Parts: sequence; structure tokens; C-alpha cells
Amino acid sequence: MESIIFSNTIAEDLKSYLANHSFSKLGVITDTNTEKLCLPLIKDNLPGGFSQYSFPAGETHKNLETCTAIWQWMTDEAFDRKALIINLGGGVTGDMGGFCAATYKRGVRFVNIPTTLLSQVDASVGGKLGVDFNGFKNHIGVFAEPEAVMISEVFLKTLPKEELRSGYAEVIKHGLIRNANYFGCLKAEGWEKQNWREIIEKSVSIKKEVVQKDPKESGLRKILNFGHTIGHAFESYYLDSDRHLLHGEAIAIGMICESYLSVKKSGLSKSELEIINKMLMDVFGKFDFPVEDIPAIVALCSQDKKNEGKTLNFSLLTQIGKCEYNFNVTVEEIFDSFHYYRDL
Ligand SMILES: NC(=O)c1ccc[n+]([C@@H]2O[C@H](COP(=O)([O-])OP(=O)(O)OC[C@H]3O[C@@H](n4cnc5c(N)ncnc54)[C@H](O)[C@@H]3O)[C@@H](O)[C@H]2O)c1
Ligand SMILES: [Zn+2]
Repeated sequence: MESIIFSNTIAEDLKSYLANHSFSKLGVITDTNTEKLCLPLIKDNLPGGFSQYSFPAGETHKNLETCTAIWQWMTDEAFDRKALIINLGGGVTGDMGGFCAATYKRGVRFVNIPTTLLSQVDASVGGKLGVDFNGFKNHIGVFAEPEAVMISEVFLKTLPKEELRSGYAEVIKHGLIRNANYFGCLKAEGWEKQNWREIIEKSVSIKKEVVQKDPKESGLRKILNFGHTIGHAFESYYLDSDRHLLHGEAIAIGMICESYLSVKKSGLSKSELEIINKMLMDVFGKFDFPVEDIPAIVALCSQDKKNEGKTLNFSLLTQIGKCEYNFNVTVEEIFDSFHYYRDL
């Protein structure tokens, strides 16, 4: 498993990391935002002569076209197999830059420096790399581990509040699926002012523990999908609309619906459901969506238009802090959970 370095002095720590590792050439991949806001924080501590590539920020650029441009840059710069790549950015940069590095000349080493809360607590751990393809998320990719992941909360200072909150949804998820005490310590009011270092370390340790036990998602790792079957459907459905949801905003809706399903299917108590709802509503507020949209969103849960009579596989809570996987949920029950959310 990758080594994860938490740092309050990222520029110095990166400098000494690079001094202790040999490489033929250093390449830094950023998006247009992290080039402006994050690269200046480490630039002076990088060895002279490093080469940098920046792609346009945003999920819409996480595709093979951008990969082609990145591979072309690596080729133009004559990177050989001893080159080292630093991916400096959010989950898009880490997933795509890592994928390009892991496939260029059958793989060159790479270090990830995640700069969003989401990528620090989630995308930085677990070795999943890849890009979107023809509308399918993360459709093309590989499992490969970075040489190191360097995490510093200093980058969060420039992160827009809604992006910070999007990552916070994954933090809440980590508490819900694995550690009730952790969930209990998370703030709803004033959530944006927290000891992020402590939170990131705790969340990373939870994700790491789960991934270590089941790296290829044949069992336990599925609990990390809590809130995501329904959340992803919301994210996809409103993707190109003016009601566009960030990943964590969609997952927050998904966690409420799936907690409702947990009461029906896996023994979560009603009182804990209410605690979960309050936390998520206090942080994220309610997302209003018309009842007419429901059938299409439900269809997206299974990526199949003909849902009638079908069951879907869910990871559900048995109590706050405990999640189990492989529950069969019917389409009718998913409909009920959407109506439950709307009526809150
Ligand atoms: N590999 C995994 O296990 C895994 C897990 C979760 C998510 N992901 C992937 O991660 C992606 C989402 O990650 P994300 O939310 O970090 O998206 P992102 O990389 O697009 O970053 C979100 C926005 O924040 C900007 N940004 C990044 N760092 C900043 C900073 N320090 N200051 C100001 N702005 C900054 C970016 O330019 C972008 O506009 C998705 O593609 C998702 O599939 C992967
Ligand atoms: Zn997620």
C-alpha cells in the first residue's frame, strides 16, 4: 500500500522526499486552478528544470482526449521509465494523472498531492485510477499505487466552500459506516471550521483499513459505496442541468435515502435515522426535485431502463458506525425512499 505522509510543511517535506529519491526527470501535472493556487506553494522547492503540464479544470476534461495530450507532453519531454510524476490537484488530477503515469511506457512512478478535501479523504487512498468514457464515469482505468501521497490541509484555504462541503459528505460517510464515535464528533453547525488535519487523518485511516482488507472490492470494500448507489443517480441525472449537484451534495441525498432503506432492510433504528437526517440536512440543506423526475433517477440507479420487479444490491447501515453489504432492495423500495426524502 502507498505511503501516506501528512504534512504541515509540504514544501519542505516534498523537497526532502525528492532529495531522497532518484529520477531522470520530474513532471508536474496540475489543472488550471491548481496551477494558479497550489503550485506556487511548492514551486520554489522543486528541483530546477522540472516540466509542468496543465489541463482545463473540471470533470468534463477527465477523458481520453486529455490523456492523449498528457502522454504527448511526456513524449515531447522525452520522459523515460525512470521519470517521476507529481499530480497536484483534486480527484480529477489524481485519477487522470495517475492513470497516464501508470500506463506511459508500461508505468512510471508517481506521487499524488491531493488538494481538495474529497481527494484527500477519499481519492488519495485505494489505487483506483482512470477517466470517464462516453458518458460512463471512471469507465477506463487501472489499479496502481502512487509511490507516496502527501497530504496537507494548507491547500484547503483556497478551496471554495461548496467543494469543501462536498468532501465533508465522504467524511460523514466514514463515520456512519465504520466509527460511531467519529460520527458523533463531527460538527454540523460551523462545520467549515474544524481541525481538518485530525479529520483527514481519521478518515484516511478508515478508508485505508477497509481497502487493505479488500483491495479489489470483492466484499467489505463495498461498504464505501454507502449513499452512492442513489447518490450517483442524482449526480448523473442533474449533471448537465442548472441544478447540477457536486459529488458530495448528491451523496448526502443518497445517504438519507439509503438510511431510510436501512431502517426497512438492515435494522437501523428510527431514532438513529433521525440523527443522520438532522446532521445531513443541517450541513447540506434540502434538495428540491420534482416528483416527475423520480422514475428517471430510479432507472439510473441500475443503469437499466426496465426496472420493474428487479432488485438492486446495496450497502446499508445496521446502526450508526456499522455497515453491511449485499442487501437486495426492490425498485419499489427505492421509490419509497425518494418520497421519504421529499416529505422531510
Ligand atoms: N480514485 C478514487 O478512489 C476516487 C474516489 C473519490 C473520487 N474520485 C474522483 O475524484 C473526482 C472528484 O474529485 P474532486 O472533487 O477533488 O474534483 P476536482 O479535481 O475537479 O476538484 C474540484 C475543483 O476544485 C478545484 N481545486 C482543486 N484544488 C483546489 C484548491 N486547493 N484551491 C482551489 N481550488 C481547487 C479544481 O480545479 C476543481 O475545479 C471525480 O472524478 C471522482 O471520480 C476518485
Ligand atoms: Zn464518493
